[in-house]
Amino acid sequence: MVRLCLLCFFFFFLFLAAPAASQQLYFSGFQDDAAVAANLTLTDIAKIEQNGILKLTNDTSRLQGHAFYSSPVRFKNSSDGKVFSFSTAFVIAVVPEYPTLGGHGLAFTIARSKNLRGLPSQYLGLLNATDVGNFTNHLFAVEFDTVQDFEFADINDNHVGINLNHMVSNVSTTASYFVDDGPTKQNLTLKSGRPIQAWVDYDSSVNSLTVALSPFSTKPKKPILSFNVDLSPILEEFMYVGFSASTGLLASSHYVLGWSFSMNGQARSLDLSSLPSVPGPKKKHTAFTIGVSVAAVLIVIIAICVAVLIIWKIKNADIIEAWEHEIGPHRYSYKELKKATKRFRDKELLGRGGFGKVYKGTLPNSKIQVAVKRISHESKQGLREFVSEIASIGRLRHRNLVQLLGWCRRRGDLLLVYDFMANGSLDNYIFDDPDVNLSWQQRFRIIKGVASGLLYLHEGYEQVVIHRDVKASNVLLDSEMNGKLGDFGLARLYEHGANPSTTRVVGTLGYLAPELPRTGKATTSSDVYAFGALLLEVACGRRPIDPKSSSEELVLVDWVWENYREGKLLEVMDPKLKGDFNVAEAVMILKLGLFCSNDSAAARPSMRQVVMFLEGEIGVPEEISAPKVMEGGRNGEGFDDFVNSFASSSFNKFSSYSSTGNRDMDMSFASFSTSPLSLLNGRD
Ligand SMILES: *[C@@H]1O[C@H](CO)[C@@H](O)[C@H](O)[C@H]1NC(C)=O
Ligand SMILES: *[C@@H]1O[C@H](CO)[C@@H](O)[C@H](O)[C@H]1NC(C)=O
Ligand SMILES: *[C@@H]1O[C@H](CO)[C@@H](O)[C@H](O)[C@H]1NC(C)=O
Ligand SMILES: *[C@@H]1O[C@H](CO)[C@@H](O)[C@H](O)[C@H]1NC(C)=O
Ligand SMILES: *[C@@H]1O[C@H](CO)[C@@H](O)[C@H](O)[C@H]1NC(C)=O
Ligand SMILES: *[C@@H]1O[C@H](CO)[C@@H](O)[C@H](O)[C@H]1NC(C)=O
Ligand SMILES: *[C@@H]1O[C@H](CO)[C@@H](O)[C@H](O)[C@H]1NC(C)=O
Repeated sequence: MVRLCLLCFFFFFLFLAAPAASQQLYFSGFQDDAAVAANLTLTDIAKIEQNGILKLTNDTSRLQGHAFYSSPVRFKNSSDGKVFSFSTAFVIAVVPEYPTLGGHGLAFTIARSKNLRGLPSQYLGLLNATDVGNFTNHLFAVEFDTVQDFEFADINDNHVGINLNHMVSNVSTTASYFVDDGPTKQNLTLKSGRPIQAWVDYDSSVNSLTVALSPFSTKPKKPILSFNVDLSPILEEFMYVGFSASTGLLASSHYVLGWSFSMNGQARSLDLSSLPSVPGPKKKHTAFTIGVSVAAVLIVIIAICVAVLIIWKIKNADIIEAWEHEIGPHRYSYKELKKATKRFRDKELLGRGGFGKVYKGTLPNSKIQVAVKRISHESKQGLREFVSEIASIGRLRHRNLVQLLGWCRRRGDLLLVYDFMANGSLDNYIFDDPDVNLSWQQRFRIIKGVASGLLYLHEGYEQVVIHRDVKASNVLLDSEMNGKLGDFGLARLYEHGANPSTTRVVGTLGYLAPELPRTGKATTSSDVYAFGALLLEVACGRRPIDPKSSSEELVLVDWVWENYREGKLLEVMDPKLKGDFNVAEAVMILKLGLFCSNDSAAARPSMRQVVMFLEGEIGVPEEISAPKVMEGGRNGEGFDDFVNSFASSSFNKFSSYSSTGNRDMDMSFASFSTSPLSLLNGRD
């Protein structure tokens, strides 16, 4: 092995340019000289290392790297013709930052542009959230993915898949190969750090696409993936071929060691022994190449450096308790976050949520903008559960959820690091401030986004996640005004550490389903109730309970219902829209809002149904039943009393909270056996 690695230093790449229809590329390593540099376009952080290895990403979080052959390759004779057959072989290696924890993956890519600008993480640098799945992408990719993303229906965290215009693979399988051309399949670990050769062959005469893998130089007879597809609609006449890779919260270095490509002919397999070596965690090889004495000196120097480093680390480390190691690696150091937020300066304060203050920050190394939430927690025991829940929240990934990037604990403080949302929270746009406005189109898109994020929490993850605090101030808007739900799971966390003999309900008045104070148990339908309140306020531009309004307008849902009953539903629409909205959509949203706001949990739709209504897949029922059971019904009474007593007796309390700027009225109750009024008094 060591000698082979030495050899590779003396190997040069080989390149053969042939007429377009039988074009061939052959890179046995990518020695960094002018011809390779001219023939490969490297973007983002991709680069060629000293020894001729192509490094698409290093092991820093959320990066992407691309390398494409600089000239377009002709895939068809004419723009409407049939795609030629092609064949390619390449050798990849994935070296994760932490052994066994991969950080996304790489893809052999055929694309319209050599300057792809996708998103990192699960998008592998190929696509972004808006264009994923669009047939205008003309994107072909064979992905080597080391993370299981539920959003894109990944089968596991070690798979190979064929993707057409989409990040959802059309076919995929566990990375593996057939041994000695026999029937035995052997699993391969993509993130092992060892070179793996892959062959992708397309035979246009029979529309067959196959993928084979092997840890060796010779191609197995049997592929692990075959897919019958005519690529003619996907590939255009001229396309760029190359590679794309990305890292996520966790990261791996992604390498390509050699690559051969052939149009209308079989690509030459690569000889693994002549390829550059993979820089791995095992640094022994280099020491071997130098004389023993030099190696010894180096070892001594390294040992001293390591010792100094360790001492320095120990002296500077936050004290980490044993259980914290179980949580996973995305733990930021307190120092890093202190630096990011400029010592938690008040100037960086973005807001104050129910759980703590939120600061804006810029991570010192990557310069990524983040939001840092600082939560104080008294009980040590609760904290531990709190943190283990965070590990589970960290795995939730969806484009309509604010991504948790990491965390840090310091004494009683817990710091959560989230993606920074440039446009702040939705409540700033729909209430109060007359100067900012959102068009109906924007509002509708935000609602659809939030609904799909909430559906993912309810049904898309390993376990049902109940948000418990859906409301306008927890809907955050990114730079393109996409709605993303924040703070998911936190309400539940907050319940940990409470005295088990009391029930603590977290939520916000007006969004709290009426059964909640009675049962104390949050369910997916209590989330639907809160989502209904959100629908109404986005359409009407008003809070669910508005103490400034006249008594008949005090409770938004009642007011909307009255107008609906009287057949003048559209009169409740936000005056800031100045009548500029799609009537069918507006009626649908308002009716859906009433539907979700039903006092009886059983009468509310599920989030899956809500999404189908919003996407227009099914129509909202013509007749919506009254959200409240008016005549002496069990359901109505508690909530009405609750609201009325709140409005009359606790008005001052409400105003005093408003004036401190804390709009999130977190309700925590010690007991629910008594009357609604005493519930409120039990708050402090
Ligand atoms: C392209 O089409 C023309 C005419 O149909 C044919 O003569 C030529 O050989 C084709 N070229 C390739 C590369 O197939
Ligand atoms: C690519 O490599 C070939 C062979 O070394 C060289 O002739 C050519 O100039 C290079 N550059 C481009 C852009 O093709
Ligand atoms: C990875 O690359 C980025 C961008 O070039 C750089 O800022 C970062 O320091 C690199 N990380 C490591 C671990 O080398
Ligand atoms: C997504 O990618 C497409 C095509 O590259 C681009 O036109 C579009 O602007 C991108 N959208 C975003 C939100 O970046
Ligand atoms: C696909 O992209 C095209 C152009 O980029 C756009 O006009 C079209 O609306 C997109 N289609 C979908 C379904 O997103
Ligand atoms: C591939 O998958 C995408 C997304 O699931 C789908 O839209 C497309 O029709 C599929 N293509 C083929 C050829 O099956
Ligand atoms: C290969 O991996 C798959 C998926 O992880 C697993 O189900 C299967 O048991 C493994 N096979 C062997 C032989 O280890």
